[in-house]
Amino acid sequence: MQMTILAITLVLMAVVAIVFSWVIGQSTQESGAKSAEGAETYRTKLLVGMAVAGLILTVASLEPWPHALAADAQSVHVDATGAQWSWELVPNKVPAGKPIVFSVNTTDVNHGFSVYDPSGRLLFQAQAMPGYTNHVSYTFDKPGKYEINCLEYCGLGHHNMTDVLTVE
Ligand code: CUA
Repeated sequence: MQMTILAITLVLMAVVAIVFSWVIGQSTQESGAKSAEGAETYRTKLLVGMAVAGLILTVASLEPWPHALAADAQSVHVDATGAQWSWELVPNKVPAGKPIVFSVNTTDVNHGFSVYDPSGRLLFQAQAMPGYTNHVSYTFDKPGKYEINCLEYCGLGHHNMTDVLTVE
């Protein structure tokens, strides 16, 4: 499903790029020699500069991808399964200071797996989707009780869909 969405996105981006370059080509032909050549050159340089800057920014911001998995021997694995209206965490006790890799899944409808620190601050969340397992990695610095909530409205018992993850 996600690969299909990616493919559609890439095709649509290619279409936009083709239309865009066609429009630029047309405008260059029509402007002719009469237009202010200096402004034209400046505009082209500005456009190329912005495109290069955009490319660099895109690549640079992909570097610290937040969902990259720390799947080394040190990491601990937790299965987080949502169902109307509860979470099942196996195990529900994890150590502090080690990367915890959560495999987030659901047995029925969409749920929003979210983890809050003891002061009630949202640390991270991942979508629980039918037929698909989302992975998210997080390292807890301090021991404590971390509340699990559902961030996707999933029916009458949505507000009661909470659990606790103990970090030791
Ligand atoms: Cu599960 Cu809302």
